[in-house]
Amino acid sequence: MAAVTRYSGKVVVVTGGSRGIGAAIVRAFVDSGAQVVFCDKDEAGGRALEQELSGTVFIPGDVTQEGDLQALISETLSRFGHLDCVVNNAGYRLILCFPLDPPPQLPEETSAESFRRLLEVNLLGTYTLIKGAVTAMTKALALDESQYGVRVNCISPGNIWTPLWRELAASTSDPRATILEGTLAQPLGRMGQPVEVAAAAVFLASEATFCTGLELLVTGGAELGYGRKANRSSLVEVPILLP
Ligand SMILES: NC(=O)c1ccc[n+]([C@@H]2O[C@H](COP(=O)([O-])OP(=O)(O)OC[C@H]3O[C@@H](n4cnc5c(N)ncnc54)[C@H](O)[C@@H]3O)[C@@H](O)[C@H]2O)c1
Repeated sequence: MAAVTRYSGKVVVVTGGSRGIGAAIVRAFVDSGAQVVFCDKDEAGGRALEQELSGTVFIPGDVTQEGDLQALISETLSRFGHLDCVVNNAGYRLILCFPLDPPPQLPEETSAESFRRLLEVNLLGTYTLIKGAVTAMTKALALDESQYGVRVNCISPGNIWTPLWRELAASTSDPRATILEGTLAQPLGRMGQPVEVAAAAVFLASEATFCTGLELLVTGGAELGYGRKANRSSLVEVPILLP
């Protein structure tokens, strides 16, 4: 069963592994035969997953705290002696391409402090939200680290049905409508599952051995084709019909 052990003997660190996409990534690497060390701010969730999955070690921590990250890596190295893959998954907030009610904080209303915090978690800690910056950083790191034989890739997910998405929908005045909009954003007509993102992560780590600086889209085709791109509230110019 090659697929089951395709990453056996390897050691993987996953941030934000207690739930959602991160938890699916932890499971997928365990299924691939790896030892997984994961961190999360959510200690109860992390402990529960660690108990459920043998082959995992949970270390509570916040990726915005440099000391927590250093402890995560040094603890991993002292336990296992090597580290083969880091998945920077921890993050919060989603990129949404449709208007929400109430809207998430608008850029012009975001304080410098909350923007800094967003950057800390999502850019320094993980791989999404500030999407352009993350892909640029992925490419720059891929170039810098190639001299050490280290590959750096990122995954850009479409709408993935996770606790984060459920909470976001529940915070709107019409959760069903919000979920429907989120579903219709993908031409495949559904949201993705965490396990589908996890499969991409295992692929990048174990089989994509000649890929570096790559952005792997796991989006159900969300970026393809024509569709409504402007907000409902945007000013629009509609061409006048000829008589
Ligand atoms: N779900 C989606 O549709 C979607 C789409 C695009 C990108 N993403 C990104 O994927 C990642 C995972 O999303 P999810 O939907 O599984 O979210 P989630 O909220 O369901 O899970 C995220 C996990 O990360 C942890 N976490 C958050 N901030 C942390 C921090 N500072 N330090 C340590 N742990 C922290 C949380 O406690 C939680 O366990 C996030 O970076 C998110 O921005 C998600």
